[in-house]
Amino acid sequence: MKSLNEKKQIQLAEEEVKKYASIVESDPNRLRYHLMPPVGLMNDPNGLIYWKGTYHVFYQWMPFQTTHGAKFWGHYTSRDFVHWERQAPALAPSEWFDRNGCYSGSAVDNDGVLTLFYTGNVKDDDGTRHTYQCMAVSSDGVRFEKKGVVVHLPDGYTAHFRDPKVWKHENKWYMVIGAQSEQLDGKAVLFRSDDLMHWEHIGAIAGGEDGNFGYMWECPDVFRLSGKDVLIVCPQGLQPEGMHYQNVYQAGYFVGQLNYETGQYVHGTFTELDRGFEFYAPQTMVDEHGRRVMIAWMGVPDQDEDQHPTIAYRWVHALTLPRELVLIGDKLYQRPIEQLQLLRSDEVHHPNVFLQKEVRQFDGVKGKTVELLLKQIDGKGVFSIHIQNNVSFSYDFEQKVATLERESFARNGMKEKRQCLLSQLHTIHMFIDTSSIEIFLNDGEEVFTARFFTKEENEHISFQTNAEASFHLSKWKLC
Ligand code: FRU
Repeated sequence: MKSLNEKKQIQLAEEEVKKYASIVESDPNRLRYHLMPPVGLMNDPNGLIYWKGTYHVFYQWMPFQTTHGAKFWGHYTSRDFVHWERQAPALAPSEWFDRNGCYSGSAVDNDGVLTLFYTGNVKDDDGTRHTYQCMAVSSDGVRFEKKGVVVHLPDGYTAHFRDPKVWKHENKWYMVIGAQSEQLDGKAVLFRSDDLMHWEHIGAIAGGEDGNFGYMWECPDVFRLSGKDVLIVCPQGLQPEGMHYQNVYQAGYFVGQLNYETGQYVHGTFTELDRGFEFYAPQTMVDEHGRRVMIAWMGVPDQDEDQHPTIAYRWVHALTLPRELVLIGDKLYQRPIEQLQLLRSDEVHHPNVFLQKEVRQFDGVKGKTVELLLKQIDGKGVFSIHIQNNVSFSYDFEQKVATLERESFARNGMKEKRQCLLSQLHTIHMFIDTSSIEIFLNDGEEVFTARFFTKEENEHISFQTNAEASFHLSKWKLC
């Protein structure tokens, strides 16, 4: 049973949804096939799980304003991973241990009980922060009951200790938590349990030392893929380095071997997951076929968040498409899940395209909700794709650089870009959804994710080269 206070919070949130529904839905920038908040602010995906035949995506939600605050867990479910139904909020801030927010966390199936772990965020009047790792359970997957605190802050860390990700390994439960040490280094901290209630602190499995890799690590996730242990994490406090670390905070991963007994994690270097503007707080889950799938927040904390034009329509942010993760060597490849094909219609093919010093548009290749696939790409000079006169993707065959450029929505239409090195380009798989773009290069070797906002509605897509480019082009309308 929920406390009266939590019920009241949820009721207020639902009233807010009703009150602003028509304004939110009238926004021309509203996405068509991505998860968004019904009103207010959405950030991290939480509690991703395939449970009893249904996909659950929870998310950090502030229903009452388009800025951060005391977060709820919003909730969507789906049978096929592409068509979603909104459910009542699963968690609302209400108790002494979570009164200033039910912060990020994860979900597991415990003998048929859907069990959530989240961070209870508490701030005293004088600003002192407290953090508690909490549990909530549900037997129907829709109504959740809080069970209270299961992990208290261990010695050696500040109250920036949050985002529990729980999983099972060889009959024991493990929890990894994002942390800040008292020396102000970001860390990922491991716990072990037999019963999900009592947790033994094993220690930090990875982290910076002496300020060399950020002051805080958020949203860690540990999983095994192709015989290796991957740690995804979001370090805060890295400085830009060439084409790397261009966003305010980063999201990336390490690959290595984790000793579950000792907590020793031998791993390689940090690799960014996405090279675009808006990507943060990814979380993974195992789908019905045993595939590892990741969803992230299509936003970055503190990065032009108050400048999104959607705020005028009382909502802000969205989640990325679900992406299957595949490990090739020590590199994570991301591939849009194949169920997205269910959204396809109006298929168009232009095989054997050859462009020479020209700009070209193709019959049937335009729209606001579009999937584009370019295969067997070859060329010289610079090849680019221009979308809605606002955002472009280009590849320089000589410099071996991929670039995403857009008109900034925060700096008066100024051009801004993100780049990465790519030794060759053979495939571009692009998902445009009104005001979002996700570009998968070479079957997911690199990905660019971004939001963009045009002043006038348009459906423009054109292809350009200053030398030559050849490819096979396919296009689908989505949803
Ligand atoms: C990441 C994050 C998490 C925290 C949540 C609060 O974006 O800061 O560390 O749990 O957002 O909404």
